[in-house]
Amino acid sequence: MEQSKAPIWDKLLQWQQKKRLWLHVPAHGGGAGLPSELQNLFGMYARFDLTELPGLDNLHAPQGIIAQAQALAAQLFAAKASFFLAGGASAGVRVMIRACCNPGDTILVARNAHKSLYEALVFTGVVPRYLPIETMEGLPLNITPEAVKEGFARYPEAKALFLTSPSYYGIAANLPAIAEAVRKAGALLLVDEAHGAHLAFCRQLPEAAGPYCDLRVQSWHKTLGALTPGAVLHCHTEHIDKNRLFLALQDVQTTSPPYPLLASLDVTRRTMALKGEEITGKMLTNAKKLREALAAYVPLLQRQQVKPLGFDLDETRVTMLVGKAGICGLKAGRKLAEFGIDLEIIQADTLLAIVGPGYNFNGKENFAAAFKTIPRSTRFCRHIQRLPSIPEMVLTPREVYFQPAKAVKLQEAQGHIAWAMIVPYPPGIPLVMPGEKFTSEIVAFLQEARRLGVEFMGIDDAGQVLVCK
Ligand SMILES: Cc1ncc(COP(=O)(O)O)c(C=O)c1O
Repeated sequence: MEQSKAPIWDKLLQWQQKKRLWLHVPAHGGGAGLPSELQNLFGMYARFDLTELPGLDNLHAPQGIIAQAQALAAQLFAAKASFFLAGGASAGVRVMIRACCNPGDTILVARNAHKSLYEALVFTGVVPRYLPIETMEGLPLNITPEAVKEGFARYPEAKALFLTSPSYYGIAANLPAIAEAVRKAGALLLVDEAHGAHLAFCRQLPEAAGPYCDLRVQSWHKTLGALTPGAVLHCHTEHIDKNRLFLALQDVQTTSPPYPLLASLDVTRRTMALKGEEITGKMLTNAKKLREALAAYVPLLQRQQVKPLGFDLDETRVTMLVGKAGICGLKAGRKLAEFGIDLEIIQADTLLAIVGPGYNFNGKENFAAAFKTIPRSTRFCRHIQRLPSIPEMVLTPREVYFQPAKAVKLQEAQGHIAWAMIVPYPPGIPLVMPGEKFTSEIVAFLQEARRLGVEFMGIDDAGQVLVCK
């Protein structure tokens, strides 16, 4: 197979050569039917926004250009099969669970899982058993092989382990050791690699999950050059039931192939095949320059800090530990935005900058002007140092979903079963998941964190939480 080919893109270009009568969907007719405000900007795009015409392909049963493009992606990522996702990595996470688990099955889940997993648990009726995330001075790292081993010892019936690596902050788990524990337990390893599609192309980045997992999903729009929300699911072993996988893909995917998005995946794959090493090398060089510039103002999370703890760091993720410098991250994020510097994550004690293939460090970034005007005070160092233990799960996500909810004051929540998740920012990991019981430890912890000014999803302005009625 020739990685220099781009079957979807080539066909769409060829399509433009002939004048055609547009008597099919989409109704914009290749541009003329777009609202007039959109025509200038999106007119050209609309010419590529085609449908399942003869010579093009069907996303639910690909046999032509989509099948060829997916086969090329599988070859590049050393997968048995790869699938283009029109609904982001969110769709891929849902597919992995639907394809591998039955109602009532147990699955081990690293607590930093993306919210798309939760929907999959509700749909399937699978029972999650959460594994704690290691933290370093309040910063979430990832799960450890020890936590995985303990998880399987406690729940030997677990069918799979679901983990996220690298994390949003670029912190990779010890996949070889974790994979060994998963294999010993006879379970499947499902990896959310939404933030790691670029890893395999650069030896100085953490190792990718391909050689270790059964299934993994990657957001190509997050770290490669694809359009939002282009993502890809890779199947790496024979342990996956192909029929279930195809069915799950159809369940979550649109029946209308979004051709511009699919073409962006196709061409991104070709670009990475031909120039992936160069592109990721440049990303890393730019990230290192950015790190050097920022280190003059704030401490940064460094690879050598996480390595001794058994993790690795993707250095294209630049985490600024502003809390340590006595800087309020929320104020700093706003100030940087005033100077036209937009960041990925803005939290009270951390800021995250993502360096992708579209960023070039030019040395003129106005960090000095921004950081010089930001006040420093120890009052701003208000991050959570230690997370409380994971509460007992009384109802499954599916059981909770179909229950009515009511709001109660946080101080009265002890003994109630949570209806909605409660997530503090930072660290952005749920403290309470739906179906878990509020303990006195959790309530006291949440009250103290609120007093310190930590922001929460799941606690309203009146200090109420949603519980099962
Ligand atoms: C770890 C993780 N997994 C999955 C997703 C979902 O990705 P997408 O936006 O491609 O649906 C995200 C989105 O931020 C994420 O951070």
